[in-house]
This record gives sequence, structure tokens and C-alpha cells, in this order.
Amino acid sequence: MPARKRVYSGIQPTAVMTIGNYFGAVQNWVRLQDDCECVYCVVDLHALTAPYDPAELRRASREMFVSLLAAGIDPDRTTLYVQSTVPEQTELCWLLAALTSLGDLSRMTQFKEKSGLLKSGPADDDGAFVSAGLLFYPVLQAADILAYRADRVPVGQDQSQHLELSRGIARRFNSRFGRLFPEPETLHTPVTKVLSTADPTRKMSKSLGPRHYIGLFEEEDSIRRKIRSAVTDSGVPPAAGHGDEGDGDGRTASPGIENLLTLLAACGHEADAGRMREDYFAGTLRYVDLKGTTADALVALTTEMRERRADILRRETDLEGRIMAMGERARTMAGETLALARERMGTYPPAV
Ligand code: TRP
Repeated sequence: MPARKRVYSGIQPTAVMTIGNYFGAVQNWVRLQDDCECVYCVVDLHALTAPYDPAELRRASREMFVSLLAAGIDPDRTTLYVQSTVPEQTELCWLLAALTSLGDLSRMTQFKEKSGLLKSGPADDDGAFVSAGLLFYPVLQAADILAYRADRVPVGQDQSQHLELSRGIARRFNSRFGRLFPEPETLHTPVTKVLSTADPTRKMSKSLGPRHYIGLFEEEDSIRRKIRSAVTDSGVPPAAGHGDEGDGDGRTASPGIENLLTLLAACGHEADAGRMREDYFAGTLRYVDLKGTTADALVALTTEMRERRADILRRETDLEGRIMAMGERARTMAGETLALARERMGTYPPAV
């Protein structure tokens, strides 16, 4: 039997996991556990590149760790860890930096966006602080992936460029020092993109404010309120025969309706969603029905998730200890790679 593929991915720590995070990434991570050997990381070191509060970061890392367990990441099959518990990766980051082109780094779209270079030249010039961590972000990401010699990396489209860079670094290492790293493939699994119910022209995001996202562990009342007030028609009438999305017949409802149908289907109610979509185009859909059904489905999901979360918190009496133990497992894996990388690159192991 061929060895199972190793999958690696990372997620930024945030205190609240949204259904956007869940349907857009985490649910896919959970499924991948069945066929692959998975390593998943809460990337707190990457989070240092944006303004943050230290106590809040620690809390967010812990919350994200628990949320991932509650969402179905199984610590018996999968290595789930917090990035800063594995210093081997940071050392590998430095080794790999020597193999990374400054030109490539400064051409990364995400770097240009976040550093403000796209708008106004270096933001440093207008007094705003731009951390060099932003430039280094993709090197640390490459170190994450390569430390575990991962074959496949499930990420969104926005990370393709970072993955290409990781492959380039792997290639440069392999040709200069002998083959050590697989070139990690981007795994573009179709996932569900969830929009804000308050403004369905924008992606569901916590940064837009509480009206714009639904938490995976959110209480029933507030979910019902958000779905009840969800924007449905944005002044665009349904145009039969137009649009390039939809369910195969080429029709697209208004963004708000599409988003509610998407959520309903994502909760496992594809048949209901299909029927309501037909009613919509037949002009017989009552929005209260769509909203009621979607709210019911979401409440069922979040209730289950909340129960699992409560269960985990009951079982895991020493959460910090658990995070350390998982980190130890990850350190062993990353340590093996790092030892080989040091040897090939001609540096010493740490003194003991
Ligand atoms: N940069 C990724 C994001 O913002 C997160 C990330 C960090 C990551 N390290 C990674 C993703 C390694 C995949 C593999 O989404």
C-alpha cells in the first residue's frame, strides 16, 4: 500500500471561529483526516505581523485550538498544534530565508496589500509602521509546510502565490543540498464561500463587525435574529438565463438569496435548498420560509458544535498541558527535518 499523503495547513488564531471559517476551510480539514495523514497548525507567529494585544493573542490561540477540536479535528489521528510551541520551525525559517529571493518576497501580493505598497508607496514613509514580519510571512509559511515535508496543502486561492514560493524554496534547497523536501502541492478542494448576511456583497468576516458574521458556537437567539434581518434582494431582480453561477441551469438569484441557499445546502439540506431555489425562480418562494428553514439548519449545527465544545472543555481539564503535549509531538516531526537541514547546510546542532 502506498504511504498516505501528508497534508498540512494553518489557520490564524481568532477567539471566534465563524461558520465562514468552518464551511470555507475547517470542514474540509476534518474530511481530509479520513484519507491522509494531517498536520494542522494555529499560526500565532504569523499573527504577530498585524497589530495585536499579547493577552488576547494567547486567548485566541487557545480558543482556536479548542474550536478545531470541537469542529472535528481528531487529535488521535491528526497532529494539531500551536505554531509557537515548535521553535524548530522558526529555526528552519531562518535557514530557508537564505534560500529565498528578496525580489520574490517583495512581489507577493499579500505583502504589497498589507504593507500599503499598492496604494501609496511604502507606508513607512507616511509614518505608519510596516513590520519586516510582513515581508517574511511567506518564508515562515514555507518553513511550516516543509518542516513536516508535506505533500499537499489545502488553502484558498489567495494563498496560491505563497505556495508557489514554498515550492521554489524547496526546489532550491533540493538542488543545492540534495533532495530533502517534496514540492508541496496546492490542494484546491471546492469549499463553500459564505457571505455576510447583512451585506451579501462581502465575504463573511469578523472585521466587518458582529452583524456580519455567525459564530460556529453562537447561541440560537442571535442566529435567528441575524437570519431574520438578512438582506435578501439588493435591488437586482432575478434574471432568468443570466448569470454564470447557480445550480447548473445558469440562473443566479440575488446575492442575499444565493447566500441563504448556500448556507442551507452547506448544513446538509441540499434538497430543501434545491426546492426553494426552484420556488424562487417560479416566483413562489416566501422569504420567511427560506429564512426560517435556514435558521433552523444553522441552529441545529451550532447547537451540536456547542455541545461538543462543552464536552471537550469538560474532558480537557488541563488545556494548556494538552497544547504543550501536542506541540511536543509536532516538535519531534519538525526536529527530524531540521536536523537534516542543518547538517546539509553546514550549521551546528544546538548545544546541550
Ligand atoms: N497564510 C495562511 C492564511 O492566511 C495561514 C498559514 C500559515 C498557512 N502557515 C501555513 C496555510 C501553512 C497553509 C500552510 O490563510
